[in-house]
Order: sequence, then C-alpha cells, then structure tokens
Amino acid sequence: MSGSEAAGAPGGEQRRDGQGGAAEQAADAAGRHDRIDHPPENREEASLLQEHREEALEHAGPAERVTDPSRYLLVADSVTAGYVPEVNILDGCTLTLGEGEVVGIIGPNGAGKSTLIKTIFGLLPVRGGTITLRGESIVRRSAHELVSSGVGYVPQTQNVFPSLTVEENLEMGVFLRPKIFQRRMSAVAELFPLLGERRKQKAGALSGGERQMVAMGRALMMEPSVLLLDEPTAGLSPIFQDEVFHRVREINATGVSVIMVEQNARRCLQVCDRGYVLDQGRNAYTGTGRELLDDPNVIELYLGTLAQTG
Ligand SMILES: Nc1ncnc2c1ncn2[C@@H]1O[C@H](COP(=O)(O)OP(=O)(O)OP(=O)(O)O)[C@@H](O)[C@H]1O
Ligand SMILES: [Mg+2]
Repeated sequence: MSGSEAAGAPGGEQRRDGQGGAAEQAADAAGRHDRIDHPPENREEASLLQEHREEALEHAGPAERVTDPSRYLLVADSVTAGYVPEVNILDGCTLTLGEGEVVGIIGPNGAGKSTLIKTIFGLLPVRGGTITLRGESIVRRSAHELVSSGVGYVPQTQNVFPSLTVEENLEMGVFLRPKIFQRRMSAVAELFPLLGERRKQKAGALSGGERQMVAMGRALMMEPSVLLLDEPTAGLSPIFQDEVFHRVREINATGVSVIMVEQNARRCLQVCDRGYVLDQGRNAYTGTGRELLDDPNVIELYLGTLAQTG
C-alpha cells in the first residue's frame, strides 16, 4: 500500500482528459507541455516563452521570509525535495497558509506543483527546509499521522476507489476513526447532497465531476483543518469546473483552509485569497489573487494572454 493509499487515498483510474491538438504538440516538441489557460501557439513561441520565464526566474527574489512559523496554519519554508537521489525537483520552495485562507498554486506542467503538495503531505522526504503545522515541524510525519493531525489530501489522479460505492469511499476516509462515520457522513452529505443521494452507487459509475465530489468528500470525512487539493477541476467540463470552485469556497466557509493546485490559472486566482506561481521547483511570483491577475509579467509568462497575441 502506498502512502496515499494508506492515508485513505485510493488507487483507481486515471481521469484527466488528453487534449491533443497542434498547440500541445508544438509545446511538447519544445520540451514543455503547458495546460495553463492558453498553451503557446507554436514551437518558436513556446521556447521564447520558456526563455523569458527562465530570465524572470533568475531575477525572482525569495517568495517571502517567514520569521515566525507559528503565526501561520501551515508553512513550507525553502523546501528541497525530489524523487531520484541528487535530483531536486523542489529547489527551495516557500509557501504559507494562514488560518481561513484559500491559497492557489499555478505554474507550467512539470513545475513541481504536485511534488510540493505531496511533500507537504509526507509522501516525499524533505531534503532541505522546513514544513510546519501550527508552528510545529511535520517534516518526518507520515501521511497517516498528518491525516490525524487534520490535514486532508485529494491527489491529482486516482482519487476514488471506482469499485467501491460512494458510501464505502467515504468510509475509507475515516478508517482511522470509524466511530465518527455517521456524524461526518451527514455533514459531508449536507455539503454535497449528491453524495447522500448516490451513496449506494459505485464511484466508478459516476461522472468525472461527481467523482471529484466523492474525492473531496472523502478527504473531508476526517474533519480536516487543512485541505490539499491537486487539480480538482482537471478533465471536467466548464460547468463542473465552476461547481468545484464554488464548492471549494463553500468548504472554506465551513472553516477549512485550502491549498489548491490548479491548471485553470485565471479562475483559480479569481477564487483564491493568495496565489503562488511555481516554475522549475522555485517560486516565480507570489501575491494576492488579484495582484497576480493584474501583474503584466504573470500575464505574459503564465496566463498566456500576451503569449497568444504578442
Ligand atoms: N514519481 C516520480 N518519479 C520521478 N520523477 C517524477 C515523479 N513524479 C514527478 N516527477 C518529476 O517531477 C517534476 C515535477 O512534477 P510534478 O508532478 O510535481 O509537476 P506539476 O507541476 O504537478 O505538473 P502538472 O501540471 O503536469 O501536474 C517533473 O519533471 C516530473 O517528471
Ligand atoms: Mg501536477
């Protein structure tokens, strides 16, 4: 059983839709594979964009200096981590989450967004830097322990058990505290009425958007104070994407602080309180959602508008 499975996150089917198309092939050929709002039109543009991003990264200062981690709910400070020995994917990443905040992480494919979330959730060892929850180090805590400490995680893919019913999926979310199942099932069904209505249905028979609700519902079963969401809208139709963003705000309104990785960069920045642009495992830009949406460099390099027209 992998760490995420052990923590109640399932293995199952891959959900994300492939997008294909000439623009993606061109971006692929240039070694990048952007799916944030507007992929570059052609190979030349993709490599030019890449060059500009690298130049901007060279000049990027530290994201923020955290002098007192206990002032935040969660802090990842100057974190280095990776999968293969001596290859660091995260190269000194910093992220803070205040009590009650929704924080978004955007950035190109391969930037290390999922890696950062997985490292926070204890699925990858921290090679450098610190991660704290309410000021206390969680660096060597397992995913299990983090779930018990109030951290919920919804992976980017394979986030429901397709052969189990909705109810059984939710039950997996509280396997550490089965006694709270009924109480939490009622609370989660209030937030996601569909999960109550479909409780006896196999999760594999649900639509992508409905399955995403199951995955979020499962993570909420343990009554987390922090929810880590990795691309919750990936592969969903625009209507379901909106629904998910709306649900994230509703979940937040119940007192859950959220870190959300998103491919829908603009929409994410509209919804979140603060955002982080990651690139090549480093902090490229940080600010409120509005600041990032209005920043000409972020627009040009990561939101695609100028890359499309210029
Ligand atoms: N299990 C793994 N083993 C080795 N390398 C990995 C593994 N998972 C990811 N990587 C590498 O780490 C880098 C960052 O990957 P990560 O999944 O964090 O990117 P991301 O920003 O989430 O991208 P995406 O937008 O495509 O989801 C990539 O170069 C990827 O190839
Ligand atoms: Mg990812």
